[in-house]
Amino acid sequence: MTETVLAQKAEELRKQLNTWSREYYSLDQPSVPDDVYDQKYQELVTLEKQHPELITPDSPTQRVGGAVLKGFQKIDHEIPMLSLGDVFSKKELGEFVANLDQTVNQQIDYNCELKIDGLAISLVYRNGIFVQGSTRGNGQIGEDITQNLKTIKAVPLQLSEPVDVEVRGECYMPKKSFVELNERQEKEGKQIFANARNAAAGSLRQLDSKITAERRLSTFIYYIMEPEKFGIKTQSAALEQLKKWGFKINPDYRVAHNQQEIFAYIDEYQAKRADLTYDIDGIVIKANPFEVHKEVGNTVKVPRWAIAYKFPPDEQETVVHKIEWTVGRTGVVTPTAVMDPVQLAGTTVSRASLHNPDYIKEKDIRIGDTVKLHKAGDIIPEISMVVLDKRPAASQPYAIPTQCPICGAKLVHLDDEVALRCINPKCPALVKESLIHFASRNAMDIRGLGTKIIAQLYEKHLVNDVADLYHLTFDDLLQLDKFKEKSANNLLTAIDNSRHNSLERLLFGLGIRHVGAKAAKLIAEKFKTMDNITKATVEEIAAIKTVGMTIAESVVTYFANPNVSALLNELAKAGVNLEYLGQTAAEIAENAAASPFNGLRVVLTGTLDHLKRAEAKKWLEAHGAKVTGSVSGKTDLLIAGHDAGSKLTKAENLNVKIINEATFIQQMEEEE
Ligand code: IVH
Repeated sequence: MTETVLAQKAEELRKQLNTWSREYYSLDQPSVPDDVYDQKYQELVTLEKQHPELITPDSPTQRVGGAVLKGFQKIDHEIPMLSLGDVFSKKELGEFVANLDQTVNQQIDYNCELKIDGLAISLVYRNGIFVQGSTRGNGQIGEDITQNLKTIKAVPLQLSEPVDVEVRGECYMPKKSFVELNERQEKEGKQIFANARNAAAGSLRQLDSKITAERRLSTFIYYIMEPEKFGIKTQSAALEQLKKWGFKINPDYRVAHNQQEIFAYIDEYQAKRADLTYDIDGIVIKANPFEVHKEVGNTVKVPRWAIAYKFPPDEQETVVHKIEWTVGRTGVVTPTAVMDPVQLAGTTVSRASLHNPDYIKEKDIRIGDTVKLHKAGDIIPEISMVVLDKRPAASQPYAIPTQCPICGAKLVHLDDEVALRCINPKCPALVKESLIHFASRNAMDIRGLGTKIIAQLYEKHLVNDVADLYHLTFDDLLQLDKFKEKSANNLLTAIDNSRHNSLERLLFGLGIRHVGAKAAKLIAEKFKTMDNITKATVEEIAAIKTVGMTIAESVVTYFANPNVSALLNELAKAGVNLEYLGQTAAEIAENAAASPFNGLRVVLTGTLDHLKRAEAKKWLEAHGAKVTGSVSGKTDLLIAGHDAGSKLTKAENLNVKIINEATFIQQMEEEE
């Protein structure tokens, strides 16, 4: 192909992919299946690899993140990025509206919009191509975050028309992404974010845009600069124009013709707030005609034609009685505040994770303190602040434990982690948790070997490490509570069967830091035997696609430990298979059945927005779960829609794992 033909081909692919991406991310109306998109995308990747000179800034391949920056360039906002005046009551809002109507001498229309709790951004397009994006900064001077914004799929790289335009809007992190990010951060012993807004801010201000790309941010654009250039006369028309150009706008805006309609909008969205998939902190009311904007103008900081009505916070005060510390499989010691029970967003809450010692220190949470409690992402109880006025006079700063609450070993901070860890490999909590992990479904899948049985085996000194499981006898098992001939035989058979598992299950079951089931599979597939893995170098492991340096280094460090070699010898002696077996047809079928939901007792509660309850139940049952009507000590998982009531409270009290509908849908998708 000639150069021009190649350039044309690249242009065609870019246009097509950008259109599909716009339909998918901005309009929520995909027109082609994912694999069709992926195929074209790969075509473009290959073409650009062979001809790097064809890469343009609007190529969708440029969304993956680029070079790590040393700092952000400053950007001058020619037209300042304004903030908004606030009101906190309908009375004040009514006065604002009446004043504005009076100033312009007519009853005008108001465009009501949701006030997205994120960060203001500005996007500049030349000839319809995204050229620069920035933060608000102090309103006059912001920071150039173009590279980071390019990784956000809702930000169009190319508009549907070749216009020169600057637009402004909000960048935010959806509730689901926020909850998952914090879960990941906590597991990895990293800093957790207090709310979705902070998480979005932290993600946008990454010098390494690859990190931003992983954070699943989104945007709602709400303003066109100099709308008169495009003949647009009202804010509502501006939103529609933005949508036509390919921006994601918030669809829940409404033109109100009078004060009653504004108030009705506020009431409606205050009630719907918890069900939205992103956080809002109020409503923005804007004069709809741009003529009015011109006429009344701005103060130095805020427009006179718009106002923010702020919602009262959904918070409760309660008292912290104690802080409990638990030790997880990786040794991370996590604090939980135990408080007087309070009603919050429909459930009774008495416990909230405090994540790590820094969190306690930063918020200066003390025993006896009155705290404000809210629900992050609408489901996770979280302390927002201490009410200092109510602090008892004799209060002392909370003393962070220096010793493991379970085994008494000295606790440490690894690397630059915020988490405290117990690194005593013999810590009972760690040993029990690692045995639980070893037996779990995606690891050695030893059915019948659950938490309670493991605790008994450990406490009766029958099992100290995973190799001991393979020396258990029939008589050993009869010592356990409620164990009879049949149950003992069943468990022995399950343990015996696990000897024949393929290598990846054992590799995952060992609980090596950062090695999930997927990475274990890839490593086992490549190296075929445990012996090869123990000899592999960091480079050889990191050469596997999608297995990075972190995992590779962790694997090499793990196998360098002499205790690990001893354990592997024990396992080999016990007849545990140490080779990759590949998948037989029977295994493929079995794997399909071995869903993480298999064998779980699940309860559905509350209102589901996207799924019919019967469908959810059917899906769960098809994946091996037992769906029951009430929460008990036996329940493994509660799927909570909104307005969940007593079942949610009970599950919280019984420490049952709780997920919301969005997380459930994501897990369903992952399964499929
Ligand atoms: S209009 C001159 N509309 O709220 C126009 N702002 O507290 C100013 N915000 O800085 C902004 N949702 O970051 C507008 N629908 C919306 C908004 C919104 C969120 C943010 C924006 C602004 C802040 C002021």
